[in-house]
Amino acid sequence: MEYKLTTRNEVETIELAQNIESEKFPNMIICLEGDLGSGKTVFAKGFAGAMGIDDHITSPTFNIIKEYENGELPLYHMDVYRLEGDISELALDDYYHADGVVIIEWADMIKESLPKEHLYIKIKIIDEDTRLFIFKPVGKKYEDICEAVL
Ligand SMILES: Nc1ncnc2c1ncn2[C@@H]1O[C@H](COP(=O)(O)OP(=O)(O)OP(=O)(O)O)[C@@H](O)[C@H]1O
Ligand SMILES: [Mg+2]
Repeated sequence: MEYKLTTRNEVETIELAQNIESEKFPNMIICLEGDLGSGKTVFAKGFAGAMGIDDHITSPTFNIIKEYENGELPLYHMDVYRLEGDISELALDDYYHADGVVIIEWADMIKESLPKEHLYIKIKIIDEDTRLFIFKPVGKKYEDICEAVL
């Protein structure tokens, strides 16, 4: 099952992230795929804000993983675009089971290292301000979330 939804500006993307955040649970995994500037970080920021994280969220591109511990749950925000070398050094499994929420930008680059169950979100740039979100829930929990909020 796939769910499609269009946002017409940055604020609508933040609201979309907030809606999904309202269904968060420990060890939730959100995978984001989309071209440069499609809105992956905007989505992550919207989600983080809804979790009560008050730190300034920046793109973790150069650090690969940023951890935010002051929200309702820990947030592990990853951007694997510049990942080089052996992916096993990242110890991704540890993050997947750390009872926080994991958001991965450029998840398509590590498809073979994603956990079995996750919420996969593809973002397509339609025009300057329009984005098409395609949600693919993998696993019952994620299907229920999509059913509930999309
Ligand atoms: N509907 C929309 N939703 C989200 N962002 C939008 C939308 N319309 C325009 N934008 C703009 O698109 C840009 C998205 O930037 P963002 O950093 O989130 O992209 P990204 O996918 O994380 O890119 P990168 O691959 O470089 O990390 C922002 O400048 C934002 O203001
Ligand atoms: Mg980004």
